[in-house]
Amino acid sequence: MSSAAKQTALITGASSGLGKELAKLYAKDGYDLVLVARSQDKLEALAKELTEAHGTKATVLTSDLSKAEAPALLVKALEQRNLQIDALVNNAGYGLYGPFVKTDLQKELEMIQLNVTSLTELSKRLLPGMVARGKGQILNVASTAAFQPGPLMAVYYATKTFVLFLSEALASELEGTGVTVTAFCPGPTESGFQAEAQLGSSKLVQGKKLPDAQSVAALGYKAAQKGKRVYIPGALNYAMANSVRFLPRDAATAIVKMAQAPSS
Ligand SMILES: NC(=O)c1ccc[n+]([C@@H]2O[C@H](COP(=O)([O-])OP(=O)(O)OC[C@H]3O[C@@H](n4cnc5c(N)ncnc54)[C@H](OP(=O)(O)O)[C@@H]3O)[C@@H](O)[C@H]2O)c1
Repeated sequence: MSSAAKQTALITGASSGLGKELAKLYAKDGYDLVLVARSQDKLEALAKELTEAHGTKATVLTSDLSKAEAPALLVKALEQRNLQIDALVNNAGYGLYGPFVKTDLQKELEMIQLNVTSLTELSKRLLPGMVARGKGQILNVASTAAFQPGPLMAVYYATKTFVLFLSEALASELEGTGVTVTAFCPGPTESGFQAEAQLGSSKLVQGKKLPDAQSVAALGYKAAQKGKRVYIPGALNYAMANSVRFLPRDAATAIVKMAQAPSS
């Protein structure tokens, strides 16, 4: 039996893509789960699958984390069920492709609420318990988008920079407490993300074979278990994320603009 047995991981965005694969990994390692997203049917199917496969106690809590009141209500629901969270996986998120003057304002405000504000509030509300117990883990799913500005996905890139910087600052503040914070920074990965972000015409994904969510999630899970502060999966992603530090900022921004331009 794993040393992780009887701990509980809360995973946001567990109904699809990276979050679903992360849920499987936590379950396999002996964690009980709280599965969060809007799609109740998908979460319930996953809960059933993981209970059958690993005996996981999986609680489904549907929540729209693009709503301001959602994180507080979610934590209240945990308290009502007497659920203590040992690992928080802030994974739910989406992007939106297109020039800022044309993209949908409401979608972007909700993206900031989901990718930034809900992630911050859930961390704020669940961290004190972890620190008091001297043990815990936060896995924040950022992106390689976090490392430079992103013309044609301007708001999304900015949200992920927030996630990266918040995670690194918290990891530093929490040194010696037994609680780790990991910013996981994948590059483009096959999932529901591309359709949701309307990325179809971008050179970034068109005609490209992207890594699958299962293998990418496995690397993120491993990084969180090791308590790494920042983890960028893939040699090319790692090289690109780090090389921008040595480029003039305008040049780094221009490269992203070129890489994300429509393909025709
Ligand atoms: N795929 C990539 O290329 C890539 C690269 C780097 C980083 N990421 C990051 O990885 C994370 C997971 O994305 P993914 O690639 O796995 O995409 P995905 O397959 O589209 O999954 C997104 C998840 O977020 C949930 N979600 C979306 N809006 C929500 C809301 N308002 N409230 C609660 N949950 C919500 C979705 O569930 P419901 O629809 O059921 O609510 C779904 O479970 C995101 O933070 C994304 O930015 C993705």
